Amino acid sequence: AAAGITLQGKVALVTGAGAGLGRAHALTLAKMGAKVVVNDLGVSHTGQGTSSRAADAVVAEIKAMGGEAVANYDSVEHGDKLVATALQAFGGIHIVVNNAGILRDKSFARMSDADWDLVYNIHLRGTYKVLKAAWPHMLKQQYGRIINTTSAVGIYGNFGQANYAAAKAGIIALSNSLAQEGGRKNILVNTIAPNAGTRMTATIMPPDMVEALKPEYISPLVGFLASEKCPATGQLFEVGSGWMAPVRWQRTQGVGFPINRALTPEAIAARWSDVTNFGRATFPTNAQESFGAVQANFDNKASSPSPPSSSDPEPVRL
Ligand code: NAI
Repeated sequence: AAAGITLQGKVALVTGAGAGLGRAHALTLAKMGAKVVVNDLGVSHTGQGTSSRAADAVVAEIKAMGGEAVANYDSVEHGDKLVATALQAFGGIHIVVNNAGILRDKSFARMSDADWDLVYNIHLRGTYKVLKAAWPHMLKQQYGRIINTTSAVGIYGNFGQANYAAAKAGIIALSNSLAQEGGRKNILVNTIAPNAGTRMTATIMPPDMVEALKPEYISPLVGFLASEKCPATGQLFEVGSGWMAPVRWQRTQGVGFPINRALTPEAIAARWSDVTNFGRATFPTNAQESFGAVQANFDNKASSPSPPSSSDPEPVRL
């Protein structure tokens, strides 16, 4: 086991653990002492075909190094079946790593409803279904560690990946909400946006980049976040090639316009550089904090209801 940090006595479920990142996560958690449910539907990277081989191979790897593991071959869309496997095989569920995923890249003009629905169903709805089934057990035992998987594409968007970006962004929002619901029950929920050389990215990356981006550089963070020592919840980490960094929202100071003067597009245009100045940014961490600045403007009354002529707003310049 890793020095001091152990998952002894814990049961972990890793989805999509038959290949790529999921396989590396499952091996890491097993090495740290967890009993692992290795879930994998055994599909291609676009979600075609099914096979039990992927999950079986990783279970065999874990057993060969003296660990405990069991396979599950259901789609994450049936999250209750994955959790049932953990309960039946190991009598509990403490750690969930939502990792399974596929791609259906198309420019938005060419994207079909089927491309949209499949990617949504596996990424966002699959993550939801697995967590929905695990959540009552975590609440009851007042312990849970959840690591969800988004992507830089879910944070920043990307050409040709509107379906994937939207589903992955939804996973961040789901994580942040569950972090707030789970906090007092010792259920910690974090999200990773990995960069890894896997079959999913091998088609677009040169071989030396695939090597520099080994999944094994990412799984130790998952192991840390899955442990009792996890110091974080509601956090989002970009991670790859041994580098990692949390990401957060930032907001400008903003501009509060007087509520007793007519607010016009021209008045906004005149203050646009102040509205968008990130110089003294703030970092709201929840919706209540976010609302504070809005609320502070409730009483923002100018002494005279019309602006002095010297500061008359400039006309919009396009
Ligand atoms: P991969 O294609 O190597 O592995 C994904 C695994 O998920 C496969 O074994 C597949 O059979 C399984 N899977 C797919 N649909 C499933 C379903 N419905 N139920 C159960 N298992 C299913 O992909 P990779 O690269 O390891 O990706 C893992 C996760 O990381 C995905 O969520 C992906 O979107 C995310 N990610 C990966 C990045 C990378 O650079 N590789 C970048 C950003 C995010």
